Amino acid sequence: MRVLSGIQSSGALHLGNYFGAMKQHIELQHENECFYFIANYHALTTIQDAERLQQLTFDVAADYLALGLDPNRVAFFRQTDVPEVTELTWILATVTGKGLLERAHSFKDKTAKGLPVSMGLFCYPLLMAADILIYRSDIVPVGQDQVQHIEMTQDIAGYFNSTYGEVFVRPEPRLNQTPVVPGLDGQKMSKSYGNTIELFGDAGTIKKKIMSIKTDSTPVEAPKDPQRCNVFALLKLLASPEETAEWERRYRAGGMGYGEAKKRLAELYEEKFGRLRAQRAAWAARPDDVEDILRAGGKRARAVAQEVMESVRRACGLSARPR
Ligand code: ADP
Ligand code: TRP
Repeated sequence: MRVLSGIQSSGALHLGNYFGAMKQHIELQHENECFYFIANYHALTTIQDAERLQQLTFDVAADYLALGLDPNRVAFFRQTDVPEVTELTWILATVTGKGLLERAHSFKDKTAKGLPVSMGLFCYPLLMAADILIYRSDIVPVGQDQVQHIEMTQDIAGYFNSTYGEVFVRPEPRLNQTPVVPGLDGQKMSKSYGNTIELFGDAGTIKKKIMSIKTDSTPVEAPKDPQRCNVFALLKLLASPEETAEWERRYRAGGMGYGEAKKRLAELYEEKFGRLRAQRAAWAARPDDVEDILRAGGKRARAVAQEVMESVRRACGLSARPR
């Protein structure tokens, strides 16, 4: 199976990214042909500061490597190292109705909030469709919020294939067990909501954040519903099934304060991610090696993309005339 996914370099990666997407990216690398990239063209829709974008792109690479992405198994690259995706974006735009893009949640949310919408944001799903289709990807592991974009990609592939013949493969989304990870305030954890717990934050800051997770005002003695608690939702991502069952029992029994669960969550976070800080620091100290990995991954990915683009150009009548 060919597996592909991307993550924008628009801010520090967090538990939502990890449990929603990256964890399965890393698991899938063992038995599939994987293409994972840093979506820095997409990030331009929010980050318009060269130095910052450069740094954030490097940070995403170092985070993935520290979490165990194996660059020998995976083609790991920067989206911009395969500029053919922008060419395909244009071609896909010509077979896609404007109405489809107007139905995208990301665009509708911003419009509803009265925020300015650039053409880049409006066309975001087209670029994402190009990312997916240009590698003939079978499976796209993502969090719940990206599923609509993949369904749009299926539609766009259909428009193209019915106009020009079967060039593209229909991709399928693939979700983790936790498709939506809540943030500190109970909304979806997201870089753009300021409610994140970063993967590589320092211990003190993370602990403070965890202690500030929003909970209801049920008194300590009263029984509590774990299914409605943001702390429990995060705890069960990090605790063993046995420990999770024990917390569930304690919530329902009453006599337990949310503070206790938060403290345990902070410990579990440290056990899992604290251990990886040294590896993260080691990658941060080897920027040239990270660059070499991204370039090599970009080369592998680009070779596939160029071949597919040849078929696309041929199908549309855009190829140079052979002599
Ligand atoms: P953000 O919303 O923080 O900007 P991205 O849009 O870059 O994150 O998401 C990268 C990947 O992580 C996507 O596959 C997305 O679905 C997943 N993801 C992000 N936040 C969450 C979350 N809170 N729960 C589950 N998956 C998430
Ligand atoms: N839009 C995705 C996000 O915000 C990132 C992304 C860009 C992506 N292109 C992709 C994800 C292709 C999967 C496949 O998370």
